[in-house]
Amino acid sequence: MFRFFPVEWHDSLPSTNTYLMERVKRNPKTPHGTVIAAREQTAGRGRQQRSWLTAPNENITVSFLWNAPVPFEFVPSLAQAISVGIGSYLQQHVTPAIKWPNDVLVGGKKISGILCERVERGDPECVALVAGIGLNVNMGAEHAARIDQPVTSLALERGARFDTVAVLDALLAALSTPLNNWSTEGFPGIRDAYTRLGAPGGTPLSIRDGEVHVSGTLVGYDSLGALMLALPTGEIRTFYSGDVTRDLVGES
Ligand code: BTN
Repeated sequence: MFRFFPVEWHDSLPSTNTYLMERVKRNPKTPHGTVIAAREQTAGRGRQQRSWLTAPNENITVSFLWNAPVPFEFVPSLAQAISVGIGSYLQQHVTPAIKWPNDVLVGGKKISGILCERVERGDPECVALVAGIGLNVNMGAEHAARIDQPVTSLALERGARFDTVAVLDALLAALSTPLNNWSTEGFPGIRDAYTRLGAPGGTPLSIRDGEVHVSGTLVGYDSLGALMLALPTGEIRTFYSGDVTRDLVGES
């Protein structure tokens, strides 16, 4: 059964992911389940070399270490398991939706993002993975307007501020079940929960993967969590990476 260590809070870090990755490189025995959170992040990183902007003391920026052996093919769907945990936590307050592969949206606006990174430390038997979560908790409308995509926060959705320490504790509790299911079965262990939070089969989607930009309808997800799209020609194409640019749960 996976358990997180008590959260190690920092007032300010450049990036919780970078900090934890450097710690693992210095000390490869850093325990599985170590959790680092920062009240302020000065150089937060997002997927695809984007930055992740948060104002001090407003939001959750947290990273944890997955340092236990899992089959190699499970690794790409770790972030999807985390998105399920975030979605199930958020359901206590709002109506979240997962946009493949692992953005979490409310009303078509992004509320949470996940960045999973491998730490190379010379142990081919066990990859160490650092999983970073950004969750917009108390972000206000002015800050949201400065971000180059539609974003929201718990406070904007509910009209009240949240206690970030309590939110993080509840979020970590909600991550346990999907992480346990993922670690024993990979994506198939979370497929049902993921599909309930995501776009249903038959949803019209457009995907951009590098130079490739195609539209079709969602068939579902394969055993790795890759997205299967039915093209108008009848061909079923499988995507292992890319950005969904149009679907019913979120526009971007
Ligand atoms: C995305 O682009 O959607 C992923 C954003 C991930 C942001 C989190 S905040 C905590 C952790 N530290 C980082 O520098 N990035 C991740």
